Amino acid sequence: MPRRFLTTPLDSLTIPGPLYSIQILQVGYHTPTPAGPARADGSITLISGGPLTVLVDTGGPWLRDRLPGLLQTHGVTPDAITHVVATHGHSDHVGNLNLFPQATMLVGFDLSRGEGIYLPNGLAQGVPFVLHPGHLEVAPTPGHTRAHVSLVATGTSEGTVVVAGDVFERRGDEREWRALSEEPGEQRRSRRRVLAMADVIVPGHGEPFRVASDSDRGRRGQEEEEEEEEEEEGSGREEEDGGGERGGGGAGDMATALKWDMGTALGTRGQL
Ligand SMILES: [Fe+2]
Repeated sequence: MPRRFLTTPLDSLTIPGPLYSIQILQVGYHTPTPAGPARADGSITLISGGPLTVLVDTGGPWLRDRLPGLLQTHGVTPDAITHVVATHGHSDHVGNLNLFPQATMLVGFDLSRGEGIYLPNGLAQGVPFVLHPGHLEVAPTPGHTRAHVSLVATGTSEGTVVVAGDVFERRGDEREWRALSEEPGEQRRSRRRVLAMADVIVPGHGEPFRVASDSDRGRRGQEEEEEEEEEEEGSGREEEDGGGERGGGGAGDMATALKWDMGTALGTRGQL
């Protein structure tokens, strides 16, 4: 039986604080052309207002001359960016790392700062990397690429926001994401973890969208339903622990279990 998730468009590119605000500077896109090649660029997201100023993904190198202007629209210069999180190493996400040489860099599972100083971290072992306890952390979300990560912002006006790179291409991408995935089984698990914890998802190539809990269904009324297919790349075991529906029954416990143990993480793991 398909598991179902309820999503609705956010209809805004700004998510206010109270502390960190989230601004989507560029909505990513992915447009096939009749001749065969696709035209694409990744979403670029600015997180600011607190002690850290974080850019999640940088677009492709073709955006180099325009990215400073996009930042300036929100009063931010490139040298004010303290952290750059590149969700994965594809060119439409890492194309402008060079604009931020002073920033701490998290590129997939690689953490570096200064002139080539690489720092140990637990992302490859599934341990989130805390940027600001209680507010911002980077979580491993493998699948689209092996070392894919997502930025998790908690306590925004919309609740928990996951800037998810290409874990999600866009809202309603169920028929598309597998073709772009290095490890579909891993990615499906990552998608379910993100759906279980997020109130809002910023996908890599589309508009941000809300993920509604079951209790929201009646109140909001207008949700469309998305299906997460049961199709199994592996043994079938994954479906038993995948969970995915939010709220109701045992899903709350499942959602809690899938939050990468954030409560334990805060204040006890590496941070910058
Ligand atoms: Fe990608």
